[in-house]
Amino acid sequence: MTLARFDALNARAAQLIQQGHTVINLGQALPHFGPPESAIRAARDGLARRDVHVYTADAGRVSLREALCTRLSESHGIDATPDEVIITAGGNQAFALAAMTLLDPGDEVLLPTPYFANHEMMLRGIGAVPKPVSLNEQNRFAVRWTQLTPYLTSRTRAVVLCNPSNPTGAIIAETDLCEIIHEVAARGIVAIVDETYMHFVYDGQRHASAAAVPNWRDAVVLVNTFSKSFGMTGWRIGYMIAPRDVCTEAIKIQDAMVICAPTIAQVAVEAAIRHDWTYPLSFRDEFAGRRSILIQELSSIPHLHWAPTDGAFFAFVRVDGCTGSDQLADDLLDQAHVVTIPGRTFGEAGEGCLRISYGAVDRHDLREGISRLRQFFDCWRPRPL
Ligand SMILES: Cc1ncc(COP(=O)(O)O)c(C=O)c1O
Repeated sequence: MTLARFDALNARAAQLIQQGHTVINLGQALPHFGPPESAIRAARDGLARRDVHVYTADAGRVSLREALCTRLSESHGIDATPDEVIITAGGNQAFALAAMTLLDPGDEVLLPTPYFANHEMMLRGIGAVPKPVSLNEQNRFAVRWTQLTPYLTSRTRAVVLCNPSNPTGAIIAETDLCEIIHEVAARGIVAIVDETYMHFVYDGQRHASAAAVPNWRDAVVLVNTFSKSFGMTGWRIGYMIAPRDVCTEAIKIQDAMVICAPTIAQVAVEAAIRHDWTYPLSFRDEFAGRRSILIQELSSIPHLHWAPTDGAFFAFVRVDGCTGSDQLADDLLDQAHVVTIPGRTFGEAGEGCLRISYGAVDRHDLREGISRLRQFFDCWRPRPL
């Protein structure tokens, strides 16, 4: 259902553009920038080498995993060795690999909601049972251990965390993260933690990685990707970090699924890691600037409420009186020519909200999008139930 919604909105937006309309796209979970020059150069030069045209080890190039471990240790205090890393074909495949390795059909998985829809779909796809845990908008969608405990049963096998969150932008405080990991470890449960947006946190906040918690090997499997942080969505490189015994099992699934991530893309990403590790940080101020515009402007638009969150590049905005976010997003696109993503896409707890992405739009277009939202909501009335 989720993919159909994204596709339908994008197809309608393309139609409107073809008819000569200017569409402001606040839907895409994409950054506005492309890869660093070092990655492009390495890929170009790599084409002349024979080893780039063949498989790598299932877990990925050793030199890439070594470089990644060194950088993650320096910047985020992550203590992982190259044999605890599997390079994947993007973040979604890293999550799929983790889920397939750790879960059996019927296993219950706590899924704080609003969730990243692909997590939910993948869990269902392998026969696991996602148990939505509704997060509180008043707490700015923060995840705490006390919210998870009522949903624990004897069949709970995992908790999925997305930090910073797509779709809410919420980050998990270090103390909460440590408590969650400590508690799940004590119960033999695993935390699958997606840190796709780890470089993008604002207002002086610091990203706390689950794999930097001292006892992480007791409970954590980390998934991540270069897609957003290095502007490389099309290159399909991500990774999973897990204790050695989990990696040993996961490698068999990796081999059956994709054998290895694309070699040329591994070469490009390795160059980016070695030469441009801080590249994502060069865009943080720009994202922070766009976030400030949203903070200033959204609060004065009738019906809209956003308690600003500190990470990723999303605003998860409540619309007073909205009971059908699918219809609302359609109306916004048709009447105001602005793409937003209906909150319902991210689980029932997201109904009545819209996700606005400020990743791909420049400030001019963002202001134009906001001005169109203002005009639309000045006249908008909730539909009667
Ligand atoms: C939280 C999260 N995880 C994973 C992904 C997918 O990443 P990739 O394109 O590397 O598969 C996305 C993409 O939107 C995401 O937002």
